Amino acid sequence: MKTAIITGASSGIGAAITKELLHLGYRVFGFGRDFTSLLADLEKEGIYTSPGSDFIPIVLDFMQTGKLIEKIREIRKTSKIFLLINNAGVGYFGLHEELKPSMIHEMVTVNLEVPMLLCQLLLRDLKETGGHIIQISSITAKKNSPHGCAYGATKAGLTAFSQSLFDEARKYGVRITCIHPDMTKSNFYRNADFGTEADPACSLSPEDVTAAVRAVLTAREGMVIPDITLTPQKHRIAKREKRFPNLK
Ligand SMILES: NC(=O)c1ccc[n+]([C@@H]2O[C@H](COP(=O)([O-])OP(=O)(O)OC[C@H]3O[C@@H](n4cnc5c(N)ncnc54)[C@H](OP(=O)(O)O)[C@@H]3O)[C@@H](O)[C@H]2O)c1
Repeated sequence: MKTAIITGASSGIGAAITKELLHLGYRVFGFGRDFTSLLADLEKEGIYTSPGSDFIPIVLDFMQTGKLIEKIREIRKTSKIFLLINNAGVGYFGLHEELKPSMIHEMVTVNLEVPMLLCQLLLRDLKETGGHIIQISSITAKKNSPHGCAYGATKAGLTAFSQSLFDEARKYGVRITCIHPDMTKSNFYRNADFGTEADPACSLSPEDVTAAVRAVLTAREGMVIPDITLTPQKHRIAKREKRFPNLK
């Protein structure tokens, strides 16, 4: 059985990918902060029933990178990782001067530093297993993002890092894929004054991103898909009044 680590497993795109990995027969270490809704879903679907099953949820705040490093070292003692999916992410949107320094710090840590750390900690195992890294980047990595300058920069950084890392690691059999989704229906835009439109042609679903992950994982050995960009048919967003409603 192949073992995977996925970050941001608890909601949105990460939760959908986690379910798919379990269907594909992976043993999955999933990182997140609140698994209430995913565990209820998995129980309903009969996938997760008790501790000791193929899904191992790990509650950890990535702002505590020391704890993350300790946890990964602990996992490596008993498991060889074949698949790393860096999916956790956070976005604060608005005029750059309106962001708080803590928001910039959080985006850089969760969206860029943590994926770099995880790749560093797991690369030796991935070379041994001929494994795979999938980065959930964003379409904002590929275009200018006014009102999301810092967020877009973290994703551009993640994509640039991954492309160089693939060049460095490909001869060891490691595959690296960056997926660049456009707006996707999830809780992600809770800190923005816009969100996805109701019309399904105006946004992606977490399952669309999951389908891309499945395509990547089922590609023949010896062939790598370095880059996937996903976009909805129509380009339209819903404007909202509130910005940063969760923050004082
Ligand atoms: N939605 C979009 O339109 C879109 C488009 C392109 C790319 N993306 C990228 O897709 C990825 C998944 O986003 P999503 O849309 O599924 O949003 P989401 O539902 O908000 O999921 C974000 C995930 O990241 C985790 N996370 C955030 N901060 C964390 C922290 N400090 N410590 C530990 N875990 C943390 C969350 O954990 P908890 O919920 O347990 O706190 C959650 O599981 C992100 O990298 C995002 O940048 C999203």
